[in-house]
Amino acid sequence: MKTMQFKAYSGAGQLVMAEVPTPQPGPGQVLIEVAASAVNPIDWKLHSGMLRWVKPVRFPSTPCFDFAGEVKALGPQTSGIKPGERVFGMLPMQAYGSAAEYLAVNAAYVAAMPDNLSFQEAAGLPLAGMTALQALRDQGRLVANRRVLVVGASGGVGHYAVQIAKAMGAQVTGICSTRNIDLVRSLGADEVIDYTRNEASPLDEPFDLIFDTVMNQAFSHWRPSLAQDGVYVSLLPQLGLILHSLTLPLYSRQRVRFTFVKPNREDLAYLGGLAQSGQLRTVIDSVYPLTELPAAFLQGQTGRARGKIIVAVNAYHHPA
Ligand SMILES: NC(=O)c1ccc[n+]([C@@H]2O[C@H](COP(=O)([O-])OP(=O)(O)OC[C@H]3O[C@@H](n4cnc5c(N)ncnc54)[C@H](OP(=O)(O)O)[C@@H]3O)[C@@H](O)[C@H]2O)c1
Repeated sequence: MKTMQFKAYSGAGQLVMAEVPTPQPGPGQVLIEVAASAVNPIDWKLHSGMLRWVKPVRFPSTPCFDFAGEVKALGPQTSGIKPGERVFGMLPMQAYGSAAEYLAVNAAYVAAMPDNLSFQEAAGLPLAGMTALQALRDQGRLVANRRVLVVGASGGVGHYAVQIAKAMGAQVTGICSTRNIDLVRSLGADEVIDYTRNEASPLDEPFDLIFDTVMNQAFSHWRPSLAQDGVYVSLLPQLGLILHSLTLPLYSRQRVRFTFVKPNREDLAYLGGLAQSGQLRTVIDSVYPLTELPAAFLQGQTGRARGKIIVAVNAYHHPA
């Protein structure tokens, strides 16, 4: 089968096509013919070497975590999934590599795809959607009628966060640039703030939850906009922020928390249910064939994606 591989830490230009044996599903695994995958910032961060001290890469390495496709075979002792089923999911940190034609993956990381989504729409959802869900629900403890600020509301994680927070009944404000205002409003945000017009500082309203997916401002920038018992959730454990998370409880009811996405079938099913009921959609920025993965990475690295950058892996499985 075909995969895209890095041979060493490098930039996207060093990604090359490789022919490798099709994997066989082991106990508890399913063999999936991949129709689509997606690009996330972690893919190029891992392979550039910038995370080598926390998460070294073993080469040759096939990048990407997200997948949507069709179940082709079951390994021994695998239940709950049938051959022919359309599924989607996210590979775990220790076994990524979905930029490939086939995957043998533990069934715990796979769920049935909502039938109103295309493979490409479904492939965008797992990593970014579960990150948004776990940040809002588990770290932010979001419940109905709370006020949420989503920083980076037009990005991969942010555009799902706006929709998931709305589905949870929250009052949602999104921060984005001028060109994305209409998009973020169309996702259901009650208020939209344009960061290019300096409308983002200071914010009048105290927020119960600030979910920061951009993380280019110090916590001190957001703190005046956080309610007295509000939670600030970040996706990046910077040193200063870790110190705040440890010291804040000593003198304040505010909290700083971190999310590190953990793939699981229950959260995939929850997101699939939201998609099925029309409460969650994937905004597709662009679609690249597998052979053009380097270009997809380069676009991701600009940090300007609107929604998700999708990789079309199997030509038979994506709409014309
Ligand atoms: N800890 C975890 O488990 C985890 C999981 C997923 C992602 N992450 C991290 O979370 C971050 C976001 O991931 P992502 O997939 O959402 O990235 P992304 O899709 O590349 O985000 C791009 C978006 O960010 C917006 N943006 C850039 N600067 C902004 C600003 N100052 N204010 C508001 N919006 C701004 C861009 O809009 P404009 O072009 O309009 O500026 C664009 O829509 C990355 O650092 C990623 O590594 C961590």
